Amino acid sequence: MQTTTIPIDPENPEPRAVAQAAERLRQGELVAFPTETVYGLGANALNTEAVARIFAAKGRPARNPLIVHVADVAAAREVVAVWPDAAIRLAEAFWPGPLTLVLPRRERIPDIVTGGGPTVGVRIPAHPVAMALLRAAGIPVAAPSANRSLQLSPTCAEHVARSLGGRIPLILDGGATGGGLESTVLSLSGDTPQLLRPGLLSPAQIEAVIGPIQRVANLSLPTDTSPLPAPGMLSRHYAPHAALELGTENGKRVRLLLARGSRIGWLTFDPPPPYMPGLIVLSMSRDPALYSTRLYAALHELDAAGVDAIFVDTPPDTEAWYAVRDRLERAAVKAST
Ligand code: TXA
Ligand code: MG
Repeated sequence: MQTTTIPIDPENPEPRAVAQAAERLRQGELVAFPTETVYGLGANALNTEAVARIFAAKGRPARNPLIVHVADVAAAREVVAVWPDAAIRLAEAFWPGPLTLVLPRRERIPDIVTGGGPTVGVRIPAHPVAMALLRAAGIPVAAPSANRSLQLSPTCAEHVARSLGGRIPLILDGGATGGGLESTVLSLSGDTPQLLRPGLLSPAQIEAVIGPIQRVANLSLPTDTSPLPAPGMLSRHYAPHAALELGTENGKRVRLLLARGSRIGWLTFDPPPPYMPGLIVLSMSRDPALYSTRLYAALHELDAAGVDAIFVDTPPDTEAWYAVRDRLERAAVKAST
């Protein structure tokens, strides 16, 4: 399959490009498009065959449910069976934006979207291209991140092409996404709201609107002195090709491996050390939002450079770094576990 990439203005998307992509979606084809978090791989959420193409292109396990993207709250309510008070308030506060709400689904949402389960995740994305596409298509659009399963999420069209080129027909290239990490996934389907995936929207921001939520993701970062968490507790995900190690004293390890002839990438908070052959140093911001924007792009860059290993300075142990730490921890799980 040939993949066509259409450039599109991220602020004022050209109506012709939008209409063309929307028509493809309505006809059951896949379209990769930018959102404010990462690029999504969209399909008509009401069409089982179309959604099956997403799973085939990504190599995604069938039981992993997809997020349904809609243009407004009215459309969200047509996807879910109930619309509780917490949803009303969260939608008012954070939509369009990087928050996915998991609620009991309506029957019109096919099993393939929900992984066969009774709930569905739904969100209104804040990117002008995503919004224009959803409005023009007039259908709910199921969209996971536009990458092969378990790999890094794409934050620009080149990342999508590298991962899915030849497997999907169309990519809308709206440049780099602003957010850089995926949406926060919150379940409102039980008695207490549950955080299912940390993301760009912090737990504190959510709690300011609806009160206490349950943090299900139980994070404990490996340090230089503590062993890795038990295998199986974490699934490898969001991972670059090169092995990734988190640590607080990476300098020693980096120098050791360089001396053995390895090519190393290093994401560090410190000023870059003097030039060393075989070493690519990327200086990272100490601001968690700026760090998020840059993280996947940095890992993609190191993968493209073909390094043997990636070292990452462990971020601070505070909730502002929750989502970043979650992604790094999953990326660091060895492929064999
Ligand atoms: O920022 C994002 O959320 C991006 C953009 C494209 O919107 N999408 C994204 O989709 O990251 P994906 O498929 O890569 O990740 C969706 C996450 C998965 O962890 C999935 O298990 C969870 O959301 N999820 C989706 N529907 C769910 C449901 N009904 N119940 C529980 N978890 C659900
Ligand atoms: Mg993903």
